[in-house]
Amino acid sequence: MQHPIGIFDSGYGGLTILEEIRQKLPQYDYLYLGDNARTPYGMRSFEIVYEFTLQAVNKLFQEGCRLVILACNTASAKALRTIQQNDLPKMNEYRRVLGVIRPTIESIGSLTQTNHVGILGTPGTIQSESYVLETEKLYPYIQVIGEACPMWVALVENGEYDQPGADYFVKKHIDTILEKDPEIDTLILGCTHYPLLEEKIKKYLPDNINLVSQGVYVAASLADYLQRHPEMDRLCSKNGTVRFYTTESEEKFKDMAAIFFRDEIVVNRINLV
Ligand code: DGL
Repeated sequence: MQHPIGIFDSGYGGLTILEEIRQKLPQYDYLYLGDNARTPYGMRSFEIVYEFTLQAVNKLFQEGCRLVILACNTASAKALRTIQQNDLPKMNEYRRVLGVIRPTIESIGSLTQTNHVGILGTPGTIQSESYVLETEKLYPYIQVIGEACPMWVALVENGEYDQPGADYFVKKHIDTILEKDPEIDTLILGCTHYPLLEEKIKKYLPDNINLVSQGVYVAASLADYLQRHPEMDRLCSKNGTVRFYTTESEEKFKDMAAIFFRDEIVVNRINLV
């Protein structure tokens, strides 16, 4: 049996993370799961995000994964801690789940000069205050300002991210966060869907502000984790394969994945319960 590294997102956003991880660590096998039928998670309650995320993690474990990355800020903010503290200890075998928020925050200390950092995310991620609280622990002198962008995931999931209509919603939230704190010099895309909007975001962002996509930091942090945990590294199979599961249509998934993968991909529709 193969033991791929599981990569989970509510939809297509985690593909931006998978892409960076595969560039950094091409030798591992990967199994991506997008819960496209129930996306977006960004407006959902803690209970529901936890329930859906746990279902996805269990499915990936059943399929042979030993290590799962929640390539979703909303799931990382609302479900990761409970899964790590309550669910993993009850499992008989060695299983691990990691998120994307901590590796992103670790990176900001070296990025900001003004010590004012903006985070763009889903309403769920921003309301959870995960970025603010985690930054306080690591860099108490950095001020983090959040801005929820409720429409942005919908623009990506519906393939409208590069269309003219997206400009209105992008400009609106860039203007708002810079009004909230004009000293921001580093802006984090705290949602894995947002790198698809990067071109439009740059259009409305002053040149002196760093725009940060989290994929490279998550990939570097995973490489470091596997080096520090050889017992987990040994459990992950290494044939360089990637497979995909979606809870929605396989055809729709293939169309979207074509942005990231030039070759025909293997995708299967599954149900999560
Ligand atoms: N890609 C997920 C994130 O990083 C988005 C979520 C959603 O609203 O489903 O937060």
